[in-house]
Amino acid sequence: MNITPLPLGFGAVIEGMDLRQAGPGSAKLLRAALLEHGMLVIRGQSLTPQEQIAATGLFGSLETFPTMRGQLDGLPEIFRVASRPEDGHVEVGRYWHSDGSFRAEPTPISFWYSVLQSDQGGDTLFTDLQQAYAELQPEIQQEFAGLQTAHRNGVVHPLVLKHPKTGIPALYLNLGLTGGVLGVGPERSQALMQAVDRHYSRPGATYRHHWLAGDVVVADNLHVAHKATPIDPAARRILNRTTVRADGVIWPDEAGGTAGRLAA
Ligand SMILES: [Fe+2]
Repeated sequence: MNITPLPLGFGAVIEGMDLRQAGPGSAKLLRAALLEHGMLVIRGQSLTPQEQIAATGLFGSLETFPTMRGQLDGLPEIFRVASRPEDGHVEVGRYWHSDGSFRAEPTPISFWYSVLQSDQGGDTLFTDLQQAYAELQPEIQQEFAGLQTAHRNGVVHPLVLKHPKTGIPALYLNLGLTGGVLGVGPERSQALMQAVDRHYSRPGATYRHHWLAGDVVVADNLHVAHKATPIDPAARRILNRTTVRADGVIWPDEAGGTAGRLAA
């Protein structure tokens, strides 16, 4: 397995890995690489839904979702994102967010497998939430560290969320589902959210994933956020998404490490 960091300061490309064959040794390397880099790109995979569930299980136990149109019978672990309603959920996540941020204990890990992809848009953008916090002016960091945000469903999170394994602070905000920043008034709340939105998209900070069929992307949702881009509704695309439960995640025993040391 080769692990090559992307040039952005987050994310890494994994090569020489067939996720169907991943044993305990590979699982350890993958978990360590995800914790270090925040996002893994693993192209050229061939996974049935059951194999995707097994591969996601390398990172912990899975969340399940209600049966809906376009979802797979008997496989509640698979959440389908699609361009057509008969294939899955359409028009989702067109704003910066981490999946499952509306939960009291946010969803730690998302795993996408590209089943079907046309060439008509639908790229996914990623941005590093830890770097976003680190690059703020110290006085802004101090201000933000005292703020909390409320989702529209009432769930409250600190704006600066510490990673449960590494303790590294991240600027954590769902731009679509958050009702506001608590205790600052509506105008200030809106201005803060817009400022964070722009900061996530600052030049040089985002990775754009252009999906090919067979791609897998794994994200540590407490380290990176993502955002969908438009797709031609006439084009057919399906992404099967699986997610790891907060109470079932397996973080590696040792934080840190280097790409060189992990390369095998
Ligand atoms: Fe998402």
